[in-house]
Amino acid sequence: MFMLCICLYCTGLAFVWTNRTVLPPNGVMPFVAFLVLFLLGAMLYVHADAEYGNGRGQSSQRLSRRMPFSISSVLILLLFFLGWSYDLQTQELVAHPIDWLISKAEKQSNDWASQASVSQNLAECVQEYQRRYERHPPPGFDAWYRYATARNSVVIDDYDNMMEDLLPFWGISPAEIRLRTQQVISDSWNEVSEIIIRNGHAGLGPDFLPTHRWMLDGAINLVKDFSDYLPDMVIAFNLNDEPRVAVPYNDLQRLRDIGTGSPKHLRQTAKHNWSADRATTWHIPEDPGSTRPFEDHSRTNAFSAGTVACPPTSFAQRATTWDSSALCTSCAAPHSHGVFLSNWTLSASPCHQPDLRNLHGFYLSPAAFKPSHQLLPIFSQSKVHGYADILYPSPWNYMDKIYYNATVEHPDPPFADKHSTLFWRGATSEGVSRHGTWKGMTRQRLVHLANNLTTIPPSRSPTLPILLPNPQGKYTYQTLPHTTNPITALNLSLDIAIVDGIARAWDNDGAAQDAEFGFAPPTDFQDHWRYRYLMDVDGAAYSGRFLPFLQSRCVPFRAAIFRSWWDARLTAWKHFVPVDVRLHGLLSTLAYFTGMADPAGDGKGVVLTKGNAGAAEMIAEAGREWAGKVLRKEDMEIFMFRLLLEWGRLTDDRRDEIGFVA
Ligand SMILES: *[C@@H]1O[C@H](CO)[C@@H](O)[C@H](O)[C@H]1NC(C)=O
Ligand SMILES: *[C@@H]1O[C@H](CO)[C@@H](O)[C@H](O)[C@H]1NC(C)=O
Ligand SMILES: *[C@@H]1O[C@H](CO)[C@@H](O)[C@H](O)[C@H]1NC(C)=O
Ligand SMILES: *[C@@H]1O[C@H](CO)[C@@H](O)[C@H](O)[C@H]1NC(C)=O
Ligand SMILES: *[C@@H]1O[C@H](CO)[C@@H](O)[C@H](O)[C@H]1NC(C)=O
Ligand SMILES: *[C@@H]1O[C@H](CO)[C@@H](O)[C@H](O)[C@H]1NC(C)=O
Repeated sequence: MFMLCICLYCTGLAFVWTNRTVLPPNGVMPFVAFLVLFLLGAMLYVHADAEYGNGRGQSSQRLSRRMPFSISSVLILLLFFLGWSYDLQTQELVAHPIDWLISKAEKQSNDWASQASVSQNLAECVQEYQRRYERHPPPGFDAWYRYATARNSVVIDDYDNMMEDLLPFWGISPAEIRLRTQQVISDSWNEVSEIIIRNGHAGLGPDFLPTHRWMLDGAINLVKDFSDYLPDMVIAFNLNDEPRVAVPYNDLQRLRDIGTGSPKHLRQTAKHNWSADRATTWHIPEDPGSTRPFEDHSRTNAFSAGTVACPPTSFAQRATTWDSSALCTSCAAPHSHGVFLSNWTLSASPCHQPDLRNLHGFYLSPAAFKPSHQLLPIFSQSKVHGYADILYPSPWNYMDKIYYNATVEHPDPPFADKHSTLFWRGATSEGVSRHGTWKGMTRQRLVHLANNLTTIPPSRSPTLPILLPNPQGKYTYQTLPHTTNPITALNLSLDIAIVDGIARAWDNDGAAQDAEFGFAPPTDFQDHWRYRYLMDVDGAAYSGRFLPFLQSRCVPFRAAIFRSWWDARLTAWKHFVPVDVRLHGLLSTLAYFTGMADPAGDGKGVVLTKGNAGAAEMIAEAGREWAGKVLRKEDMEIFMFRLLLEWGRLTDDRRDEIGFVA
């Protein structure tokens, strides 16, 4: 009996422990069963000892003598554990986790900003560069420094993400980088086009896809103010939204190890000029012949193509099949605090989240996906964790394909005057749905959650508990009464809909989605500013709307696995509200900001929790202010300038000799 109840107890404890940070376990059954078994066992023991112990003529004092050691101590110990695990299970929280996350984000963001700009002049900037990256800055660094400071850049020293992207390329020779560049642009099937820099002038290559001309023109515009300082070279731009380069973990580690800077690199004095013959080394033959170093994986599950970059021991590499009907709490736990997302950086990594394979259109069925497992020099606008593409500022934002423009007709009123609504409009463009894959795509799941929640009465109880205060003022995860729809209980309206109709669906998936979803007419983009809360989710790649959302007085809610050049500059919970792509915390997050009342309670409406609009307004303003400092068009240019100087050096045959020394 004791053994059995200990086993039971351990199982219960494992449940509580592994699920502790994501969702509370439902039900106290294991613990009741444990208690019953334990008491039963104790009674049997006492009984048996009295019966048989006496029967065999042994001392009747035996039981009382042994009692303190054999039973009491175990009893006390187990009761102590029981109390502890009950405590874990009920998860009574004295403060709301979001309060804590917001104050943590405040500190994190200040820490980042203060280390991002420590140098006061060029000499210090060079020193800081050498300290961080153990190399000399590239030639032309002084021109970059003047360019950046003349435009009041707040970020002068922290370009760690850029250096991370470039690091593996130090592992292959400049000639090899140039060769691979020529290979990827040699055939239009590759969907990669080049920009050629010659004599300080940037121009288009000989053949480019006319449909993507705007993108290349955007890239040329982005560099035109500083192209004088750039050496001759060819830059290959990814024309697809989806990233391209997923290098297996061991290969990438090897390349990064070779490339890591060291004091050895700093001992040499550097020559401050590019090699003279660069144009000829980049020679592009008239008819280069065609090479296709990519494989076409469009419209198939792309998850394992990317997880090759995860450590071989990682969860994602080990778990090959996945039950998509259950919420994988252990996948979310490492980056979560309760149901709330606590580590934005980590949440993008698929390595601990094998369930992502069924939760995002890019993984389920990307529209155009031609990846390579070889380290190819490709510049992309966004990528998911594990890809080795080089991130550059998106021409989409730079060229104002979509932008924030509040006017008299489309004003951006102060936060308090906006509608208390979570707003989203979009197309089903995340991936191409086939065989029902739309059911996993983030956009479709979002629309479904907001409009067609199927877990509400009368058939089934809501499966997602919501963090609410109990009568004692402590926070616990509670499920609302069966009769209450958690969506209508929220003190805001959800206006979330697909525009016009279903896009990117094959076979019967279009009809199936038509039957499931309602549609909304298109709206003017500048109408967004009427709402307090703006939802933002990935499309086929990163969402180009996020930047305008950030610049407005609205609070962006962001559920995304794609990351862009600026992600290191923003802090989740300070500048925007992060949402797990599983969306299991969305309602609790909204309840924190807007409040919740149970309309079914006694007919009048019982307030379940008060809203926290002040915190929402703070996030809206912090994001707006910060975007005005570090995500301006000037900042895109500054980033691109530095990136191309680094790229110029990486592709220079004398790359270990050249550099800038103050
Ligand atoms: C955590 O919770 C989930 C869903 O309730 C359950 O399937 C899983 O088994 C739990 N983990 C453990 C270790 O019991
Ligand atoms: C670069 O400078 C060095 C001296 O610092 C000089 O010897 C070399 O010829 C220069 N190279 C070019 C291409 O100007
Ligand atoms: C997020 O997770 C990463 C990787 O585990 C860790 O390095 C980083 O410090 C975490 N960030 C925060 C804010 O906890
Ligand atoms: C913003 O909108 C107004 C009115 O529609 C227009 O006149 C103006 O040119 C727009 N601003 C930009 C930067 O395009
Ligand atoms: C889902 O919700 C939308 C909007 O309320 C509605 O038009 C549509 O009919 C619903 N779908 C189903 C299957 O109930
Ligand atoms: C509901 O929202 C309104 C503002 O839109 C606010 O004045 C009111 O206090 C909120 N109610 C609760 C219960 O938080």
